Amino acid sequence: MPVIDIHNHFFPSSWPDLAARYGTPNWPWIKHTEPGKADILVGDRFFRRIHSACWDPEVRLQEMDRDGIDLQVISATPVLFAYERPAEQALDCAQLFNDAALELCSRGKGRLKSFCQVPLQNIDAACQELTRCMQAGHLGVQIGNHVGSKNLDDAGILTFLEHCADEGAAMLVHPWEMFGHERMPKYMMPWTVGMPAETQLSLVAVILSGAFDRLPSTLRICFAHGGGSFAYLLGRLENAWHHHPVARGECEYPPSHYLNRFYTDSAVFDQRSLEFLVGTMGADQVMLGSDYPFPLGEERVGSLIRQSNLPQRTKTKLLSANAIKFLELKVEPRAAGDRESGAAVDSSPLATEPGHLTYSSYLKVPELLELQQPQSSPPHHDEMLFILVHQTYELWFKELLHDLDAVVANLRSAGAAPQLRDEVYEAARLLRRCTEITRVLVEQFTILETMLPTHFLAFRGLLEPASGFQSEQFREIEFLCGLKDEKMLRYHRPTAEAYASLKRRLEEPSLRDVFFGALQAMGKLPPVREEATERERFEARARAVHALYKDEHHHRDWIDVCERLTEFDELVVSWRLRHIQLVERIIGIRMGTGGTTGASYLKLTLDKKFFPELWEARTLLTE
Ligand code: HEM
Repeated sequence: MPVIDIHNHFFPSSWPDLAARYGTPNWPWIKHTEPGKADILVGDRFFRRIHSACWDPEVRLQEMDRDGIDLQVISATPVLFAYERPAEQALDCAQLFNDAALELCSRGKGRLKSFCQVPLQNIDAACQELTRCMQAGHLGVQIGNHVGSKNLDDAGILTFLEHCADEGAAMLVHPWEMFGHERMPKYMMPWTVGMPAETQLSLVAVILSGAFDRLPSTLRICFAHGGGSFAYLLGRLENAWHHHPVARGECEYPPSHYLNRFYTDSAVFDQRSLEFLVGTMGADQVMLGSDYPFPLGEERVGSLIRQSNLPQRTKTKLLSANAIKFLELKVEPRAAGDRESGAAVDSSPLATEPGHLTYSSYLKVPELLELQQPQSSPPHHDEMLFILVHQTYELWFKELLHDLDAVVANLRSAGAAPQLRDEVYEAARLLRRCTEITRVLVEQFTILETMLPTHFLAFRGLLEPASGFQSEQFREIEFLCGLKDEKMLRYHRPTAEAYASLKRRLEEPSLRDVFFGALQAMGKLPPVREEATERERFEARARAVHALYKDEHHHRDWIDVCERLTEFDELVVSWRLRHIQLVERIIGIRMGTGGTTGASYLKLTLDKKFFPELWEARTLLTE
């Protein structure tokens, strides 16, 4: 899926002399200092040093490729807002930069979109300019977080927010004109302290004023810089709301109720902060925002998210899916090898054939890759391997159950119509697959043996009482094949679904039952007396198999089934043996996390066979 940065800025390479145009001093202007470099000044005051990525799409696209970014939604810089100026000047100024943004995007090969700016000191003018801009191709609007002393809960500003919802405009709220300047003259404190507080203030004002109770839920609004200090201090706000009527404001619900009504960007520059932000806001409410290409922006756009320990699926949401929703883009996920991996790829525009299946969406790759969640903290390197190997086993167990169920159905049909051979061939074919899978399962333990015992011990303590003993599918395979042990059900009591499906397997005829049922239907297994002992029944079944082998010419197909079943049985014993060797190699003769005596318990399982009659028949054949 395309990686989208929703918070970054531009400056045109030039614009009219605003001081001369409006006849007042202290307007921002650009002074090119050397090739590719410029200073922004406000009147005589130095404001910021910038580079050509601000105005040159070629440079920007190259850096986007370097960072693996597909789309940037550019916005002007708050210093251009002019909210304190006469509204007609602010409108004229907004139009200059809004049109410049579109011109820049037109050279962005489909990878640059824009947010406009509006003269927010005049709501009518702001609404009109927004409508004009949406028609011209902007995706939404960037506004400052206040207009003089008016916070975002001001009635006029709320009217503008409603208008944005009506127009389908996404909104980025950017802090600006920080309060407390007189106490923050040094060290860029207005940026590092003032901006986060400004944003928090805006959010608190919108929430407590009850604005979210009245604003349409279709409003898509995002607060820059991770929402400032809001997430970190939400607990304080919530506590005050519950315990101090005066702090309660006019909202119907506690502040945390409104978290799904707004987004924040990810510009927090620290892994723990990002994880905390996502933990507080939820994985659906945070989007990649970089503040690129300014000095306080993310140096490698997207790296904070990509390098985080967040689950892959969450990363995908932050890098892409949430922004697609926020911007209401019609974008389909890309095929494999896309930018979420962090790799820079070619500069083709967004791939967008809606409704097409892709490698990732078909195979649910993002979901799959989110399923490895180590318990160790910080994660122990080998725990990932431990999880993946077990998950791979479980996936193959799933396929085994899928195929063995089909074999049961085939043999049942073969028993119902003994003259038809197709079902018997099909059963043998699927059993061959089961043996090949099991061969892989036996081999796979070697990968886990690359883990040192000490490395396993480093996180083993976190696993108790989880144990392979509780593998529901392994037990299902045993029950399905005919090795039914009701006592084993008790280990699955905590999981109602697992318990129910194992109970069902216990009660259903097993593969072994169905196989001998078919032989009976074919007349190869004579009915036994009601009062026959289990031993006598067993011998009768073994003799029936013996008879098949003795009449090879007529029963090649059934003999093939017998051979495949025997081979499967043999391979499962090999699996048990390799598992014991692995257990001894990793934990010696220690007890298992499932509470058994470990290797010595497992050794007792080596004599277990799914189809003992098939083995007995071999003894009969040699007599
Ligand atoms: C470090 C690696 C492993 C160790 C130390 C280990 C240890 C054990 C132990 C001690 C038991 C006995 C039950 C208990 O007390 O927990 C057991 C059972 C089991 N383990 Fe593992 N195991 C490992 C890897 C695996 C893997 C990769 C699988 C793959 C699915 C697996 C599947 C099972 C199953 C199915 C049982 C139940 C066997 C039965 O009841 O016949 N184990 N394991």
